[in-house]
Formats: sequence, C-alpha cells, structure tokens
Amino acid sequence: MTLSALCEQCQHCTGCGLSQTRNKLVFGVGPENAEVLFIGEGPGQQEDLQGEPFVGAAGHLLDDMLLIVDLGRDNCYIANIVKCRPPGNRDPLETEQEACFPWLQQQIEILQPKIIVCLGRISAQKLIKPDFRITREHGQWFSYNGIPIMAMYHPSALLRDPSKRPESFRDLKILQQKVSELCTHTP
Ligand code: URA
Ligand code: SF4
Repeated sequence: MTLSALCEQCQHCTGCGLSQTRNKLVFGVGPENAEVLFIGEGPGQQEDLQGEPFVGAAGHLLDDMLLIVDLGRDNCYIANIVKCRPPGNRDPLETEQEACFPWLQQQIEILQPKIIVCLGRISAQKLIKPDFRITREHGQWFSYNGIPIMAMYHPSALLRDPSKRPESFRDLKILQQKVSELCTHTP
C-alpha cells in the first residue's frame, strides 16, 4: 500500500458527519519517503477549499517555522487529526477524531516517520496522552509506538499570541537537534 493509494480510498470517506459539510477532503501532503511527520488538528476554510493542509495564514507561519529548522515542505509530511473541516473551525469532536484516526494510523504505518511533531493540543492529546498539557509539556520528547514525538504550539495559537513565539523557537531548535540525529536525507 502506498500513501497515494490510501489517499484514493480516503476521498470517499463518510466515516463521520464532517463528510456532509466538507468541500474537499484534506488527506495530507508530502513525499512518500518523508522522515518528519507534522500533525495538526483539522482543515480550516482555505484547506477545505483547496484540499491541502496548512495553506491559510497558519500555514504560512508553519512554512516559516520549517525554514528555521532547515526543513522544507518537500522533506516533511503534513496531515491532520481529522481530514474534513469542522464547521466554523470548532474543535473536532471526540467521535469525529475516533472515526478518522484509522486513516492517520495507516498513514503512519506506511510512512514510518523517524520523528512526529504534534501541532497543538488536540493533536498532542490524541497521539501522546489524553491529559497532555500543551503549556507545560511542549518541547518534550515522548514516544508513539517507539517513534519520538513532541508537541509544539499550533501556528494559529502563535498568530493569536505572539508572546509564545520564543518558546516555539526553542522547540524548533530541539526538533532540529533530533532531526540531525535521526534523519538521513534531511539536513
Ligand atoms: N490548522 C490545522 O490544524 N490544520 C490545517 O491543515 C490548517 C490549519
Ligand atoms: Fe472520514 Fe475523517 Fe472525513 Fe470523518 S473527518 S468523513 S472520518 S475522512
């Protein structure tokens, strides 16, 4: 199974109610051999219209964050906890996250990333632990089935509250160190 074949299957998913309000399903983007996997929360308005993750305002900030650690979009895979937009950008419901999770599990299974980065609380609570505290535990390494995983603030949170940016800069440097230890074809 390849990611593009899985993407084909996923396009018609009606696994939860978000299928009824989506314009485009946002499966994820990146090369099949990406070593770093970023996981956000769910598509916003621009993502829903374009079918690609992180292409709106938060996405532009994410691009800048990737540059800080010498990663470009072509070295990373970017996905979300839910693949269809929650109306009005509300948090995805627990039932929607559960319904969508098998898609992400299969993406991780195929990709076998060396490092996973959760963007924001929703992603960290799903992939690291249900009681994850983003303010206290961002920038720390945990394990997801043996894969090093860390969380940082969601780029949207950094847009709302620029005072968090220095903490995210430190988190990015921690990520960069891990990339240099574990990744082969990324700088
Ligand atoms: N926010 C997310 O969590 N994911 C996106 O794809 C865009 C914005
Ligand atoms: Fe299927 Fe996930 Fe979209 Fe729900 S959010 S319809 S589970 S792809």
